[in-house]
Amino acid sequence: MSKLTRSVWAEVSLDSIAHNVRQFRQWIGPKCELMAVVKANGYGHGALETAYTMIANGTNWLAVALPEEAVRLRRGGIHAPILVLGAVGADELDVCVAADLVVTVFEPHMARLLSRAAVAQDKTAKVHIKVDTGMGRLGLLPGDFASLVELVQGLPGLEIQGVFTHFAQAEQPDLTYTKWQWERFQAVQSDLKSRGISIPFLHAANTAATLFFPESHLDLVRVGLGIYGMYPDQRRTLHLEPALSLKTKVAFVKRVPAGSAVSYGSTYVTWKETSLAVLPIGYADGLSRGLSNKGQVLIRETFCPIVGNVTMDHTLVDVGDLPVQIGDEVVLLGSQGAHTIHAHSWADLLGTINYEITCMLSSRIERVYQ
Ligand SMILES: Cc1ncc(COP(=O)(O)O)c(C=O)c1O
Repeated sequence: MSKLTRSVWAEVSLDSIAHNVRQFRQWIGPKCELMAVVKANGYGHGALETAYTMIANGTNWLAVALPEEAVRLRRGGIHAPILVLGAVGADELDVCVAADLVVTVFEPHMARLLSRAAVAQDKTAKVHIKVDTGMGRLGLLPGDFASLVELVQGLPGLEIQGVFTHFAQAEQPDLTYTKWQWERFQAVQSDLKSRGISIPFLHAANTAATLFFPESHLDLVRVGLGIYGMYPDQRRTLHLEPALSLKTKVAFVKRVPAGSAVSYGSTYVTWKETSLAVLPIGYADGLSRGLSNKGQVLIRETFCPIVGNVTMDHTLVDVGDLPVQIGDEVVLLGSQGAHTIHAHSWADLLGTINYEITCMLSSRIERVYQ
């Protein structure tokens, strides 16, 4: 049986990923290592498929949220060090040790269980200890930090390879809060130094801090968003190329008279005779229903409005008098002719951030690598 291909697909440009990695490599300089964050299936771009390109272009490390994401990378032949950023469950520790994953540790019980798992497998598990300097999520508060480091140092089968923190608002032009977090992290570093503890990898910077707060680069930077060619705010410090385009083909076109109601709830009624194009993509694919009567797509190099409510599998577009035909290519994210639709434009319409837009694209959409 020949392969079925649906006429909705996401094109992921590996050239753009390579370009973005090289931009960051150049920006951070040779002394700093680059960790590419490929959690959530590479922010929707495909973790394994993009990881090869990232590594080939100068990425030293990968980071994921879940052990299972890392295991998939290992099974795909990725040998680079992988840091699991998220909280690992007690029953996932054996797998982490077996797959040589670097685990984030932020409390003593988990450290003891990991130590036991490592000893049982006769291995040394590398860990990075996380300090919460102001994100308020995973991580110990600075006051409790040194005692955990000392405890982990005393546990068999564990090696502290890194200490890190995470910024809560490094994308803000006002860096007051980020600098406060930075000072707290520096105090942790001094405290460790005064106890004679030396840590190979200190790290703090995400994409925004890497771009806008270079003094926080330290030994490595953890870059997610930027590697995929998206920016954390309006500033364009580096030239990054968006790697993902979302495309479909017109499934049906029909001419309708003025006064025709469109889609569930009839929230749009044509005000003149016009043509409606039916697109075979809907909210089950990650085209948010919030784009109903708000979003635009590109057809024949022209912006056309999404009209009526986006449905689970179909979306309607008012193409006016454009000579649109069944099979015409439609760009929902990406460029057509001189025009581009960015993930951040969808995000603005939806009251969210560009991160969520590409993560939202569901597994129904085939990723095509170019
Ligand atoms: C701990 C940690 N570090 C780094 C990143 C990468 O952030 P960004 O995509 O903004 O570069 C994330 C992503 O959320 C994260 O959770």
